[in-house]
Amino acid sequence: MHLLRERGFVHPLASEITPRAAYLSRRQLIGAAALLPLGAAKAQGARPGRLAPLAGGRSTVAGALVMDKPTAYTDASTYNNFYEFGTDKSDPAQYARTLKPRPWTVAVEGEVKRPGTFDLDGLLKLAPLEERIYRLRCVEGWSMVIPWTGYSLAELVRRVEPTGNARFVQFVTLADRNQMPGLRSSVLDWPYAEGLRLDEAMHPLALLAFGMYGEVLPNQNGAPVRVVVPWKYGFKSAKSLVKIRFVEKQPKTSWELAAPSEYGFYSNVNPQVDHPRWSQASERRIGEDGLFAKRRATLMFNGYEPQVGQLYAGMDLRKFF
Ligand code: MTE
Repeated sequence: MHLLRERGFVHPLASEITPRAAYLSRRQLIGAAALLPLGAAKAQGARPGRLAPLAGGRSTVAGALVMDKPTAYTDASTYNNFYEFGTDKSDPAQYARTLKPRPWTVAVEGEVKRPGTFDLDGLLKLAPLEERIYRLRCVEGWSMVIPWTGYSLAELVRRVEPTGNARFVQFVTLADRNQMPGLRSSVLDWPYAEGLRLDEAMHPLALLAFGMYGEVLPNQNGAPVRVVVPWKYGFKSAKSLVKIRFVEKQPKTSWELAAPSEYGFYSNVNPQVDHPRWSQASERRIGEDGLFAKRRATLMFNGYEPQVGQLYAGMDLRKFF
C-alpha cells in the first residue's frame, strides 16, 4: 500500500469512497481544469499564491496559446517597465505598492454610440475570461512568455459601438502623482498614451487583461486592467488603463512624442527593421540568461504573422515602423 501510494496509486478504503454528489461536483472541477491548455494548467497548478485568483477558460482564438515555456512569475513580476514608478527594471516591483487598483473605472469616449464609464466589476463581467499564453517582446531586446487572463478587446469595442468616424483607438493610462512617484520625472509625456488602428484593436489577439498566472495583475504589471498586443513591441501594451478614446485621426503616442525617429505608431515586432540605435533581429528570453544561453531569433510580428500579417498587406513596414 505504501509503495503504491509512493507511486501515486491510491486504492481507496470503502469509507473513503466519495458520495455521488461530491463526485459530480468534483468531476465538474476536473472538467474545467481539462479545458485549460497544458501550460496554463501548469501555471495554474503552480499558482504563485500572492494575489486573488482570477482564472480563465481555454481560449479558442487562433494563436492565443503559444507552446513556449512560460516565464517564471518572479521574473515576470520583478523585471518590468512601468515608467510611472521609475525607469529601472526593479523600480515598479519596489514602488508600485502605492497604486490603488480598486475602486477603478475606465471611461470610454469619442466616436462611439454608447460612451460611458465602466467600473472594474462591470468590465470583468462584460465577456467570459480566457487564459492566453502570449509572447511579449520588448523593444529593448528581451522577451517573456506570460499566461494572461482576460478577453479580446474587441468584446468591449463591439459593446460601445464605434461610429463610422472611428478609425483609431487611443489608450490613456493613470497619471496620479500621489500614487506614482515616477511622474516627477519628465522622461515621458504623462499620462502614458498609446494607440491602435481600429482594425488592430478589433483583432481577436488584442487582449484586455485583468490577470496573469491565474491571479489578478500585480500592480507592477498594470493592475487592475491593461492592454496586451502580442505582435507589437511591449510598449504598445498600456498598463493601468483609465480611458479608451475612439478617434478619427491617428493619435500621438507617448513614445512617438518622446523620440519620433525611434518609435513609430505601428511598432510591430519586425526583425528586419532595426531600431536606429540597435538591431531587432534577436532577443534574450528572460530566464534563459545562463553563460551559454543563446539569444533567440526574433520572429516577424513576434511569431503572430499567420494571424495578423493580413492587417498590414501592401504596407511599407519600413515607413510605417
Ligand atoms: N504602460 C505604462 N502605463 N507605462 C509604462 O511605462 N511600459 C511598457 C508597457 N506598458 C509601460 C506600459 C513597456 S516598455 C513594456 S515592455 C511593457 O509594458 C512591460 O509589461 P510587463 O511589465 O507586464 O512585462
